[in-house]
Amino acid sequence: KPVLSQPPHVDWLTGAFSRTPLLRKTTRLADLPGVFADHSGWQQADPQQIVYDVEMLDTLSGSGELFTGVTHLYPGKVGNEYFMTRGHFHALREQGEVYFGLRGTGLLLLQDEQGEMHLEPVVAGSVHIIPGYTAHRLINTGTEILSALAVWSSTAGHDYAALAGGFAWRVVEENRQVQVREVQNG
Ligand code: PA5
Ligand code: NI
Repeated sequence: KPVLSQPPHVDWLTGAFSRTPLLRKTTRLADLPGVFADHSGWQQADPQQIVYDVEMLDTLSGSGELFTGVTHLYPGKVGNEYFMTRGHFHALREQGEVYFGLRGTGLLLLQDEQGEMHLEPVVAGSVHIIPGYTAHRLINTGTEILSALAVWSSTAGHDYAALAGGFAWRVVEENRQVQVREVQNG
């Protein structure tokens, strides 16, 4: 006989999942050496300070399957640079991803393999189509938690090493305004 299977729910206002997530990963300042430009500011900050939490639904993995997760990025700065995720290319470079802004205010920084840069404002309701071959990083420019839902291929993987040298743009607060700075190389 036909039966209903209850899907998981997400609270669109907070990004909270109704079910115990498969995974909950907390990233603290101590986990992000070399990520922020201000090294001494990073050293002086509380290493246990949480920068972001990621929760993932417990779903199938393998070829063709999709992962669904939510990132909660806390407000804060290291020096004048806003809290952000580490950022990554996918190990399978051609794999894209979709982000949905849920709450807070921030930016999605996109950098392709040619070094072409884009910044998209993230707010409740924003939909971000991240193409393949494009590294992505969330930045919280606000004073509240920035939460975004993401859906991506379970086989895409993360390649953090490819951008260990950092993204070409940094987002900082100067004169109480959000400013985008090009990184000077050399
Ligand atoms: O799949 C994604 O792109 C996100 O779930 C990120 O993994 C998440 O925002 C954490 O960022 P990062 O993996 O760069 O530390
Ligand atoms: Ni990704």
